[in-house]
Amino acid sequence: MNDAASAHRRIQQLREQIEHHNRRYYEHDDPEIADADFDALMRELAALEADYPEYATTDSPTQRVGGRTARGFQSVTHLQPMLSLDNAFDEAEVAGFDRRIRARLEYDGAVTYCAEPKLDGVAVSLLYEQGELVRGATRGDGREGENITGNLRTVNDVVSRLSTKEPPARIEVRGEVYLPKQAFAELNRRLEQGGGKAFVNPRNAAAGSLRQLDAAVTAERPLQMFVYGLGETGDTVIPESHYETLQMLAGWGFRISPLARTVTGVDGCLAFHDEVLRQRDQLPYEVDGVVYKVDRADWRRELGFVARAPRWAIAHKFPAEEAVTRVLDVTFQVGRTGALTPVARLAPVFVGGVTVSNATLHNMDEVRRKDVRIGDTVFVRRAGDVIPEVVRVVAEKRPDDASLVELPSACPDCGAEVVRPEGEAVARCSGGLGCPAQRKQTLKHFASRRAMDIDGLGDKLVEQLVDRDLLHDPADIFGLAKADLVELERMGEQSAANLLEAIERSRETTLARFLYALGIREVGEATAEALAAHFGDLDALVMADEEDLLRVPDVGPVVADYISGFFRQQENREVIRRLREAGVRWRAERPRDSGLQQAFDGQAVVLTGSLAAMTRDQARDAVRRLGGRVTGSVSGKTAFVVAGDDPGSKIERARELEVPVLDEAAFLQRLREAGLAI
Ligand code: IVH
Repeated sequence: MNDAASAHRRIQQLREQIEHHNRRYYEHDDPEIADADFDALMRELAALEADYPEYATTDSPTQRVGGRTARGFQSVTHLQPMLSLDNAFDEAEVAGFDRRIRARLEYDGAVTYCAEPKLDGVAVSLLYEQGELVRGATRGDGREGENITGNLRTVNDVVSRLSTKEPPARIEVRGEVYLPKQAFAELNRRLEQGGGKAFVNPRNAAAGSLRQLDAAVTAERPLQMFVYGLGETGDTVIPESHYETLQMLAGWGFRISPLARTVTGVDGCLAFHDEVLRQRDQLPYEVDGVVYKVDRADWRRELGFVARAPRWAIAHKFPAEEAVTRVLDVTFQVGRTGALTPVARLAPVFVGGVTVSNATLHNMDEVRRKDVRIGDTVFVRRAGDVIPEVVRVVAEKRPDDASLVELPSACPDCGAEVVRPEGEAVARCSGGLGCPAQRKQTLKHFASRRAMDIDGLGDKLVEQLVDRDLLHDPADIFGLAKADLVELERMGEQSAANLLEAIERSRETTLARFLYALGIREVGEATAEALAAHFGDLDALVMADEEDLLRVPDVGPVVADYISGFFRQQENREVIRRLREAGVRWRAERPRDSGLQQAFDGQAVVLTGSLAAMTRDQARDAVRRLGGRVTGSVSGKTAFVVAGDDPGSKIERARELEVPVLDEAAFLQRLREAGLAI
């Protein structure tokens, strides 16, 4: 076959595949492939059509937007087509976009763009006549959508009457309806518990919720909306810039993205992209990129449209957080407390910016609920630093020989019996510290940065040391000799000396770190801090009874039981005795009832940016001494945020949630007032 003929065949094949996936996505809210894979198909088709223009057709998916209308809703014809956006995946493509714009406008200067986050939800059109909402519709195929007015009226952010004294005769407002991440997780939990099928991502959940035939179901889903532009405007005089248009919409009562702002030239665009990307995980809703739009209305008119997208805007996409791959096997990992976690071994796949070949399945209940089998095709998600997880199985792709995942009856590492107490989701190895896997995890945790902070004693090294019987428990670390270490793989004289020095340094620690390092079940950093602050020294804690323990904030009956159980065990007391004998020590902490006023009692404080008067550790220490705790991210429970120089995105988040922000001077003032000498 010649090149042209094989190109033609491939074009036809791609069009069929794309049509199929469009139907799954738009009509059934139930995709089979990841967005990134869909984008790749579209790009391949567009490239072939560009190389072989004789095969380009006006009904090709590259020339049209998305899906068609589903049954059950009346179809509406949009007054102005609802277009899609072209995508840019890297800086060069953004630069190309900017270059094309300047060339068309014959303009040499830097173009002002309105930059906005690209919300990952469902595009809707809201039509207002004399200020009243008369029709709400989905995008559909861009020309015709579905009339979902009744459902949209149940969404809080959908304004039913424009808040203006002089409403336009007729105007169409466009925006994105989305389901916040938390509501998505809750909805999926409910669906799965009821034996239903989970949604792949918040966008599919939003689409599914909006297209319920019963508006009462939509009303139960906490959907939200940001508006980002206008469609039909009739005779209305609209502002001469997009940014002002957004402000006008905000004035009418709509929510606009608080992150939207104007930027200058390619550099401004890229800086905005990086800024939003950094905040991505903290945002309460899903964004899959940012959008740059030429801000000047007259330039937009001049630039116009190509078939399916405006020339004046482009979406700069973020790395995809979902991918589709195959489960090659499921194995069980034994954790510090003996918990067995099923882990899916995957055909390697690029997701969330890295190549992933393992994903957690959490526990056996989860495996059954999601019905994951070996051989299945699955959606994998990796958002931010979170461990990759299997979201859902693509049922249609299950091979005949897919096999069920079974919980082993013996620990894969030590052979001890695996027990799963009635009613608990987690199965555990009963081998205790006799199990090398549990020993390794205990030791890794003990040495980790937030615990004893033994620089250089990483996972690989701990594994070697346990495998060679050089380490059994944490106290053995302090008995390691250079001769033991130089024998190990990739360990020269110098690194052995460095490690011994790091071990030496770690002897001087804090009671909170030490307690955390012990790895008592459910005692994380915050609880360890609370225990240290409350009891002041280890002996008081070891002697504490349940009543004493329950007085500590954050400690409930279950945790109290774990703590006293831990200290009752003779082996644990022995390890602690040997650690102290080896010279592990800490400064006495002031117990809570010391002279200091507990000015921040129980409050969660977030630090961001750098302070001039103190290091971050000192600031953290000060907050703790006044009874507060420092947390990593801003939430509704944060008491206040301290902003030093060059603060990060946490400030935006604080503003969004209306959490007070203190500058350094105000923070120091509060410390002094509470009696700290600063
Ligand atoms: S402007 C004519 N701005 O992305 C272009 N779209 O493929 C109109 N989207 O379905 C789109 N956030 O629903 C624009 N800030 C934003 C957006 C945004 C999300 C969606 C939109 C459309 C898709 C474009």
